[in-house]
Amino acid sequence: MPASAGMTKDTMAIESHSFEVDRKDLRVTRLHAEPLACPEGSVLCRIDRFALTANNITYGVFGDAMAYWKFFPAPEGWGRIPVWGFAEVVESKHAAIKAGERLYGYWPMATHAVLQPDRVTDTQFMDGVAYRRPLPTPYQVYMRLARDPLHDPQREDHRALLHPLFFTSWLIEDFLADNALFGAQQVVLASASSKTALGVAFLLKQHGVRAVGLTSPGNKPFCEQVGYYDEVRTYDEVTALERAPTVFVDMAGDGKLLHAVHHHFGEQLKYSCIVGATHWQQRATQHDLPGAKPQFFFAPTQAVKRQKDWGPAGFFTRFAEAWRAFRPSVEGWLEVRVATGPDAVAATYREVLEGRQPPRLGHLLSLHAG
Ligand SMILES: NC(=O)c1ccc[n+]([C@@H]2O[C@H](COP(=O)([O-])OP(=O)(O)OC[C@H]3O[C@@H](n4cnc5c(N)ncnc54)[C@H](OP(=O)(O)O)[C@@H]3O)[C@@H](O)[C@H]2O)c1
Repeated sequence: MPASAGMTKDTMAIESHSFEVDRKDLRVTRLHAEPLACPEGSVLCRIDRFALTANNITYGVFGDAMAYWKFFPAPEGWGRIPVWGFAEVVESKHAAIKAGERLYGYWPMATHAVLQPDRVTDTQFMDGVAYRRPLPTPYQVYMRLARDPLHDPQREDHRALLHPLFFTSWLIEDFLADNALFGAQQVVLASASSKTALGVAFLLKQHGVRAVGLTSPGNKPFCEQVGYYDEVRTYDEVTALERAPTVFVDMAGDGKLLHAVHHHFGEQLKYSCIVGATHWQQRATQHDLPGAKPQFFFAPTQAVKRQKDWGPAGFFTRFAEAWRAFRPSVEGWLEVRVATGPDAVAATYREVLEGRQPPRLGHLLSLHAG
């Protein structure tokens, strides 16, 4: 590939540091250093800032089952949890990408990463490295911020924290609307204080659908204050819920709770949608549940359907409208907390893993010291 202006010529390897977790025990972590070079056709990126929420923990919980460890391979037995965030190209050996360019996308928890830009347009490119090609496409896209229509330099933190979650919230709510709520009159959401559930509740409220949140006692006041839910109950109050035709959207993945919800609603449970596993330590298989059989929600299926229904531009426009309505609403409840350096990253990871942080907090991290 011919060199062009903006491409750098030096080939010095830098030392990159990755935050790694023991794949058999997510509580065990280490910082791993390795030299990283920028081969021809690649870009070397400095990862400036990334978000960490329960969603990233779920990537680790399902790392083997759902291939999340394959995005950013680590030494045997260790895993690099993927995160969403921002990076700067510090060295480019690709003709179309200049050093200094900023990107938004999917990264390892690390100081640096090397990408092989492929299918490059003005607004984005894909990482063309061979081992990522069989993995789901949405995780391979890197937005080029200089021409990205959704980029707002004042709101980068909200983008990293909420955008990937809200995309799923939007697809869930759209899937339910697309199926006329399966004949239900209300939607009950578990782990109601999670950012993904809050996104669904926001959209349901916009569309006049009754949303009921289930949460832990300590997070109930928060869920009520946000104002997206019509009713908020704690996990031990399932039997107090109105037995109307209901859809259950489960972000908690808690076996006991799933059992309680299905037994309470019985035949009135018209659809049971499994989205996440924030209560990853309480997972348990459930058999022969009354009501609709639990179904895993696979966001790309609804995305592909809607891209066919609306075309790619129509799909993007509709999502962008929903995002632009939702984003300002979080100013009332979201508190962004920035932590930098390996020790702060390790401490925050532990808090998020154990679910110890208040739901109003959104963590933005960097492995680069202060
Ligand atoms: N399938 C998909 O494509 C997709 C996409 C996005 C998100 N999701 C899933 O949605 C879920 C929510 O993700 P998020 O990033 O929105 O979460 P988040 O905002 O970080 O959620 C925090 C909340 O989760 C609960 N929680 C977290 N850790 C816990 C622990 N160790 N023990 C007990 N409760 C804990 C608590 O809520 P409560 O007290 O209210 O239970 C806590 O307030 C995740 O499981 C994620 O995988 C799935």
